[in-house]
Amino acid sequence: MAFNFDSTYSGDLDIQSLVQQAKQALQDLKNATGKGSDFLGWLTLPRDYDKEEYARIKLAAQKIRGQSQVLVVIGIGGSYLGARAAIEFVKSQTHNQNSDLEVYFAGNSLSSKALSNLLDYCKDKDVCVNVISKSGTTTECSVVFRVFKELLENKYGKAGAAERIYATTEYSRRSKLYELAQKEGYECFLVPDPVGGRYSVLTAVGLLPIAAAGVNTDALLKGACDAMEHYAKDGDNDALRYAIMRNLYYKAGKKLEIFAPWEPDFTMLGEWFKQLFGESEGKENKGVFPASVVYTTDLHSMGQYIQEGERTLFETMLAVKNCGSEILLKEEEGDPDGLNFLGGKPLSFLNKQAMEATRIAHFDGGVPNALIEIDRADEYHLGWLFYFFMLSCAVSGYLLGVNPFDQPGVEEYKVNMFALLGKPGFEKQREILTQRIESLC
Ligand code: PA5
Repeated sequence: MAFNFDSTYSGDLDIQSLVQQAKQALQDLKNATGKGSDFLGWLTLPRDYDKEEYARIKLAAQKIRGQSQVLVVIGIGGSYLGARAAIEFVKSQTHNQNSDLEVYFAGNSLSSKALSNLLDYCKDKDVCVNVISKSGTTTECSVVFRVFKELLENKYGKAGAAERIYATTEYSRRSKLYELAQKEGYECFLVPDPVGGRYSVLTAVGLLPIAAAGVNTDALLKGACDAMEHYAKDGDNDALRYAIMRNLYYKAGKKLEIFAPWEPDFTMLGEWFKQLFGESEGKENKGVFPASVVYTTDLHSMGQYIQEGERTLFETMLAVKNCGSEILLKEEEGDPDGLNFLGGKPLSFLNKQAMEATRIAHFDGGVPNALIEIDRADEYHLGWLFYFFMLSCAVSGYLLGVNPFDQPGVEEYKVNMFALLGKPGFEKQREILTQRIESLC
C-alpha cells in the first residue's frame, strides 16, 4: 500500500512537534498508557485472535452456506458496516446476483418499508440469521431480530429456527442477547470486551458474515497481520503520516475530510470509514468531519462544491492499481461519437487520468489531497487497509486530545427515544419531551 500527501498546506505549523506527538501516541497505544486503554484489543487482534473461535466461525460459515439461500445479518453501526464493506469491496455491490448464498443486512434502520421488503423476499427462501450486537440491547437490532425470529420459528419450528440463528455478542456483561442465545440454544460467537464496535470488523462481528459470503478471511487476517507488524515499528510509517496529515490540515482550517475512492464497490468502505473516524474523533467540540464520495460518479454531483465551495475541505483518495478486469475501447468506423482518440485504451487508463486530472484541479482549487494506492481489491489488501485506518484513527484521536474509543454522545438521543417510546423508567423525561414537542406544533 502506498500513501502520499502534500504537506504544503501546513503553513507555519510545526510538523516536527506533531511527528513527535504521533510517535508518542503509538507508544501510548502499545503500552496502554493513553486514553481509553481498556479498548485496545483490536491492536494485536490480527495475530492474537482466538484460534478456536475462528475455527468455529469457518465451520458455521460453511454450515450456513449449506443450510440456506439467504443469510440475513442483523446489526447496526460497527456491528454491520465492516462486514458489508468487505463483501462489496472484494466481491461487488451486486454480490447477491448469481451467488450460492445471498447476504442481506437488516436492523440498521427502523424503516418498516425496508423490513417488509426483506421479509417478503425471505418468505419462500431458506434463511439463516446472524444477529450481531455487542451490547445485546440496541433497539434497531433487537426489534428487527424479534421479527425475524418469529419468521424463522413459524417456518422451521422453535428447534429448527435455533439451528439457523447465530448470535454474536459480548459475554462478560451477560448481554440480553447472550442470555437469549443460551436459553434458545443458538450458536454464539463472542465480541472480545476490549474491542469496541467500530474496531470489531476482524472479530466474529465481521468474520462470520464475511466468511459466509465466500470471502477469504484467512487472507483478510493475513493482510491485517502484515500491516500490524509493519506499523508496529516506530518511526516514519504511513499510518502515522496519515494521522499527522489529518491533524495538520485540521489545524490549518481544513475541518472536513472527503474519503474518495475511485471504485463504486468501495462505497460501503466509505460508510465504515465515516463511522470509524466520526465516532472516534467527533467529541469535546472537536474533530474532522468525515464525508465520503465515489469518483468519478460524484464529480457530477459534489464536484462543483469540492472545487469551489467553502475552502474547509481536504480529500483522501483511494485507488487500485490493477483492477482485475479490463475493458478495451475499440475504434469505430467514421468515429461517430468522436471517441476514436481513445481506441485501444483500457477503461482503467481513463479512470487513472480522471484521477490525476481531479487531484490537480482540486489542489489548485484549495483542496489538498492524499492518495492511498493498493495493488488489488482483494482480501489481503482490504485487511491491510482496515488495520491502517484503525491504527491511524487511534493515533489521530490522540493527536487531537480525545479518547478515540468511547462514544458518549450517542446516548443522548437514545434517552429521548426511550422516553418517547414509553420505556419504563423514562416517565419524567417523556413528560418534558411531550410538552416540548407540543410547543413546536
Ligand atoms: O462503534 C460502536 O460502538 C457503535 O457504532 C456500535 O457498533 C453500534 O452502536 C451497535 O452497538 P451494538 O453492537 O452494541 O448493538
